[in-house]
Parts: sequence; structure tokens; C-alpha cells
Amino acid sequence: MMQMEKLVSLCKRRGFMFQSSEIYGGMNGFWDYGPLGVELKRNIKDAWWRDMCSGHNELSHPQGAPSPYEMVGLDCTILMHPQVWKCSGHYDLFHDFMVDCRESKKRYRFDQVRGRWVAAKGQKIFVTTMVEADTEHEDVTRKALKFFNLRNKDADQLAWDGGFKSLEKIDMSDRASIMAPDAVTLGTLTEPREFNLMFKTYVGALSGEEGAAFLRPETAQGIFVNFKNVLDSTRVRIPFGVAQIGKSFRNEITPRNFTFRSREFEQMEIEFFCHPNQSREWYSYWRNRRMAWYTELGLSGDRLRLREHHEDELSHYSVGTADIEYAFPFLAEGEYGELEGIAHRGDFDLRSHMEGKLDPKTRPLQLERNEQGQPKHRGSGKDLTYRDDLTNERFTPHVIEPSAGADRATLAFLCEAFSEDQVPDEDGKMQSRVVLRLNPRIAPIKAAIFPLVKKDGMPEVAEEIYGALKKHMNVFYDEKGAVGRRYRRQDEAGTPYCITVDGQTLQDRTVTLRDRDTLEQHRIRIDDVVSDVRQRVGM
Ligand code: GAP
Repeated sequence: MMQMEKLVSLCKRRGFMFQSSEIYGGMNGFWDYGPLGVELKRNIKDAWWRDMCSGHNELSHPQGAPSPYEMVGLDCTILMHPQVWKCSGHYDLFHDFMVDCRESKKRYRFDQVRGRWVAAKGQKIFVTTMVEADTEHEDVTRKALKFFNLRNKDADQLAWDGGFKSLEKIDMSDRASIMAPDAVTLGTLTEPREFNLMFKTYVGALSGEEGAAFLRPETAQGIFVNFKNVLDSTRVRIPFGVAQIGKSFRNEITPRNFTFRSREFEQMEIEFFCHPNQSREWYSYWRNRRMAWYTELGLSGDRLRLREHHEDELSHYSVGTADIEYAFPFLAEGEYGELEGIAHRGDFDLRSHMEGKLDPKTRPLQLERNEQGQPKHRGSGKDLTYRDDLTNERFTPHVIEPSAGADRATLAFLCEAFSEDQVPDEDGKMQSRVVLRLNPRIAPIKAAIFPLVKKDGMPEVAEEIYGALKKHMNVFYDEKGAVGRRYRRQDEAGTPYCITVDGQTLQDRTVTLRDRDTLEQHRIRIDDVVSDVRQRVGM
């Protein structure tokens, strides 16, 4: 399996991702995209927007869909009226459990602390860690040896009891026997407490609660609160979907695993509005459609899977939720991380924004009331129902929500694409290379153009080809160094095609086109280069 460190180092070396504010020591949970990374992520977002929204043909009847449907887009603000988050449930319910360590003063997400029971010298303790899965055994062994005052060579005196488990699974009455991840003594962890993940800020000159607002933790709510605007300003009819791509913010307790869990990230979300009677069929359609999208763009094989939530994992109002998951290399063997969730949300959101926050534990959904019997969080009072102008039926639409993360998708495509192999150099000697086998549609650079040598008129011809291609796509011109080294640099960047101007070009105006994956070289006419490359990269 690919080692994560190799990918992380490639990402930094070649300018895919950098730690935010790195020169000041960085900021945990924040990442910048470099020159190659920004192209890759933009191509993924563009592919999503085109395939899901702007390129969707509402006159066609897609396979597996109950009927044709329409799609439109929105771009909403990050800061919204604070009432939005009260009615959506985020104000009351959007929290993780955290524990604090009295010794190290560090804070951890309760479910992310993992550890193992171990006994020695007549005492049994639960040693915990926060390191990646592949080094956790090493880490807890080191700590246990230190605690029991044993040397490395005495490691067989440690009697391990059971495998690694989350702190969540440990009876908190055993707290006195727990060694926190960064502590050397026992029993330093507090009881788990709720921690709301929304970032708070203040709008305008008001500094008190009056001016308080939250950075959105999801883009979805902007779509719900604009439902009526979309209906009133377009001619969309149900069923239809609204797509949005944008930044979301979550004050994650322990951001980790490169960009997988960040505090600032981008989502690509669709809220699909349909008649309640058809919502199950639409749920199945979207689950399959979204899974197919990842496969079409290159995630395949057994590292990608669709996991239906068990009934006990579902919200009360939900008919179904499925996660599209990827076996990221930083996870333990057999574990998968969420790329996207496809949720059946019923009418929870539209009704909550109309009537006031509903109590998700009730069925059918009821308004959540305070001690005085008033709505706990008041809704907008606006009518967010839909009237079918053909049947005259009025109803509150149900929602299917395919919600994807642009950063997680970028990371998954990078993990899947990374590979190392052996290729012959100019002299036929085998050399190892790192290659990103990215789908040409999302590759940051579509083609690189090289003059074989920097003389004999070759650079002029190469510049002409570069200029013609650059009008259509991101291409790269390189005349420095041996051609083999130039190929290798492009392989690492995931560039699918390299075009070389050589001696023959000057005689017959043909160039070689080298394929990154097959290494095959074809001769093509200069006049055909633009159409040929456009076709190959799916433009
Ligand atoms: N509106 C529904 C919603 O936000 P979610 O499962 O919380 O659902 C959707 O988030 C997607 O957003 C996830 O599948 C993931 O791809 C991405 N995401 C969520 N939290 C993230 C984080 N801290 N860092 C990076 N991506 C994240």
C-alpha cells in the first residue's frame, strides 16, 4: 500500500498543498492549495458542477431516475442570520464530545482517543494515543514500558488485553486507570463534555450577543432558506435540485489526517426537492448516481464503497442515509473514511424554517417547545410549501441531500492516483518514477510541450503549439534539462500528455505525443494537436 508520508511530501514538494501560515509555524486544521493543488481542486469542483448542475439536461430521463428533473445553482453567504442555525438544529445539537487532560492541558475528541489495556507488575492500565493507526502500537508500547519502568528488552512482560478501542467504549468508572495520550500519570482526563463546533464571530460594531453570528458549518442551509426565492424567480417545478459549492467551517477538536478533517473546508452540496411519495426512489437514484461519479473520475476497486447506515444510526425523520467511503491510506487496515453522505432528510429542514425548530426525536416531527409551551426556536413564518400547478396539490417537499467534501475528494483522487513504477530512460536503463495517474479531466496540467533541444528552431515551434493549446486548457512549457527529466517532472504532477518537438518536426510538422500511463508515443500533425488533446482530456 502507498505510504501516506510519500504523498504528503510530494504534495509539498510539487505545490499541491501547504500548511496554512507555515512561516509562522502553521495552524492546525488549515491548509493552503499550491499552484498544482488549486488546479486539481478547481477541476474537481468544475467537474462536479458541470456533471450535476450546469450540464444536466432536464429534457432527458436519466437511467434509474423516477422522472426527468431540473437543476439550478446558488452561491450563498458564509455568515447568515443566527436564527438559521437555531432552526437547523446546529445551535443545540452540532457538537462533539471532548475530554481535557489536567496534566498536559490538551483537549481531545472523545471518540478519537484510542488505547489498549495492558498489565504488568500486578497493575492494569489503559494506555491511550492519538497517533496514526500504523504507529499506535509502537506509541502505546513505549508509554507502557516507561510507566512500568521496564526496558525495551522487557517488552514481553507487558500483558496486552484485547485490541485497540476508542475511549468511548471504556467505562468511565475505570477513569483512574486511563493514561491520557500526552500524560505520564494516570487518571488525568475529565468527564466528556459537549463542544459546539460552530465558529462564532461578531458582525459590525456590536460586540455583545446582539452582533453574534456563526460561520456556516454547512452550505446546505443557504439553499433551504432560499427555497422560496428560487421558486419565485425561476420556472423550476418539482422535482428539482439546487447545487452549491462553498466554504464551510467547523471548529474540529482534533483536526487530523492531512486535509481529511480540517477546520475550514469546501463542500459540494445538492438539496433535491421532491414529492414525499417519490422520495425513496430519488434517494436510491442519488445514491447510485453519486457513487458512479467517483468511479467515472477514477476512484474504483475495493478502496471505494457505499455504506448504508443501519436503522439505529438514522435520524428519526430519515428513510435512509448512505455514505460513500474511501479506504484512505492513513486509516487502519479495513477502515474507511467518509467522502460524501447521501441523506434522506424528509421535510425536516423546510418545516423547521417555516414553523420553528422541530424535535428530531419525534415521529411524526413535532415542534420543539420551551417550558412556556412556546416554540424553542421560532421559524421564519414564511410559507415554504409547494403548490403543484397541474394537480393543485400543496405539500412540503421532501429533500434528498448528496453532500460531498471537495477537499476529501481531492485527497482521495490523489491517494488513488499515486503510484511508483519503473520506466526506461533515454538509454533504455530502468529508472523508478513517481506518477500520479489522475483522470485527464481533473489533472492540473493537461499537456506539457517540450522542444527536444533549445536550438534549431525547435523552441519557436514548441511555443507556437503552447500558445494554441493555452487558449483552451492549462498547459506547461519546458525547455530546461534532459527530456527524460522533463517527462519525470510531469509524471509527478499527473500531466497525462507530453508533446515533444524534435528534428522530424522541422521536416514534416509532426510532433510526438507521449501518454503518461502507457508510455506510448504517437506522431501527430501540429495542425491536429489542439483537437487531439481536447478530445483526449474530455473537452
Ligand atoms: N449538509 C450535510 C453535511 O454537512 P456532513 O456529513 O457533516 O453533512 C458532508 O458533511 C461532507 O463534508 C463530508 O462527507 C465530508 O466530505 C465533508 N466534511 C465534513 N467535515 C469536514 C472536515 N472537518 N474537513 C473536511 N471535510 C469535511
